[in-house]
Amino acid sequence: MNELDGKVAVVTGAGRGLGRAHALELARLGARVVVNDLGVASDGSGRDESAGQAVVEEIKSSGGEAIAHFGDVADWEDSKSMIAAAVESFGDFNILVSNAGYCRDKMIFSMDEADFDSVIRVHLKGHFCGIRHASEYLRNKGKAEGEVYGRILSTASEAAFFADPGQPNYSAAKAGIIAITNGAAQALAKYGVTANTFMPRARTAMTLVGQTAQFFEKPEEGFDTFDPDNVSPLVGWLASPSAANVSGNVFIVWGKQISVMDYPKRASEFDSPDAWNHESVGAALGGFFEDREPVKNSFIVPAVF
Ligand SMILES: NC(=O)c1ccc[n+]([C@@H]2O[C@H](COP(=O)([O-])OP(=O)(O)OC[C@H]3O[C@@H](n4cnc5c(N)ncnc54)[C@H](O)[C@@H]3O)[C@@H](O)[C@H]2O)c1
Repeated sequence: MNELDGKVAVVTGAGRGLGRAHALELARLGARVVVNDLGVASDGSGRDESAGQAVVEEIKSSGGEAIAHFGDVADWEDSKSMIAAAVESFGDFNILVSNAGYCRDKMIFSMDEADFDSVIRVHLKGHFCGIRHASEYLRNKGKAEGEVYGRILSTASEAAFFADPGQPNYSAAKAGIIAITNGAAQALAKYGVTANTFMPRARTAMTLVGQTAQFFEKPEEGFDTFDPDNVSPLVGWLASPSAANVSGNVFIVWGKQISVMDYPKRASEFDSPDAWNHESVGAALGGFFEDREPVKNSFIVPAVF
C-alpha cells in the first residue's frame, strides 16, 4: 500500500525539470497523474508535446497510470480542462502541483511591457487558474460529501522574498503566488484541503542559462545538490495524508535542506503620542536607520531562484 494509492494528481509543466520529478514521485507514491506541459523553451517560445508524452510513458513503464494534457496553464479554459481531464480519466481529482513557467529576465529600466505581462501571466495567472478550478471542484465535493482529500501545492521562488534586480516580473509573480496560495489555504481549510508553497533550487532548463549555469553544475562525484529529484520528496510528503495539518506554509527546498519559513516579523515598532508629522517621523526613524545599510543586491546568486 502506497501513501497516495487512489489519489489523482495534476502536475503542471511536468514535461521536464522539476515538474517531471514531481510527477514521477507522486506516481511512485501511488497517485494517478495528469502530466500537463506545453513544451515551451525556457523563454516561453515554441511548443512541443513530446516531453509531456515521454513523462507519461515513463510513469506507465514503471507500472503507474498517467495521461498527458497539453494545455496552457494560464488559459482559463485549458486550465479548467486540465482538472476535468483528471476527473474524466481517473474519476476524481485530489492534488494540484502548479509548477509551469518560464523567465524573461531584464533589469527594471530595460524590461518591456510584453516581457512583464508574459511572465506575470504564466506564473501568477497560471497558478490562479489552476487553483481556482481545483478549489471549485474540491469545495463542491467537500460540500456534497462532507469530506474531500485535497492538496494544493504552489511553486514560488526565493526571488519573492529577497527580490532580484534582474527579475522584476518573475519576483512579483512569485510573491503573488504565495498570497494566492495562502488565501486558498484559508478558504479551503473548512473542507480539510491544504495549500502550501515551496521555493526550489535545481539544475533545469531554467537555471542552465547565462551566468547562473555554473552555480548549478553537476559535480563530477559526490552528492548532486541541484538534482531536481532532491525537491520532490517534500512535494510528495505535502501531498500525502501525513501532511493533513500542514497548510499555509512556505518552504525553501534544495539539496539536503528543507527550510520552513516564518511569517514576516516587525523589525521595530514606533508609536507616537500624537498624529505623525514630518518632524516626529524623522525623530523616531532617523536613529533607527542610521545603523541600517540601504539595500544593495541582497540576492545569494545572480538571477533565477
Ligand atoms: N530551477 C530552479 O532553481 C527554480 C528556482 C525557483 C523556482 N523555480 C520554479 O520551478 C518551476 C519549474 O521550473 P524548472 O526549473 O523545472 O523549469 P523548466 O524550464 O525545466 O520547466 C518548466 C516547464 O513548464 C512548462 N511550461 C511553461 N509554460 C507553460 C504553460 N503556459 N503551460 C504549461 N506548461 C508550461 C515548460 O514547457 C517546461 O516543461 C517554475 O515555476 C520555476 O519558476 C525553479
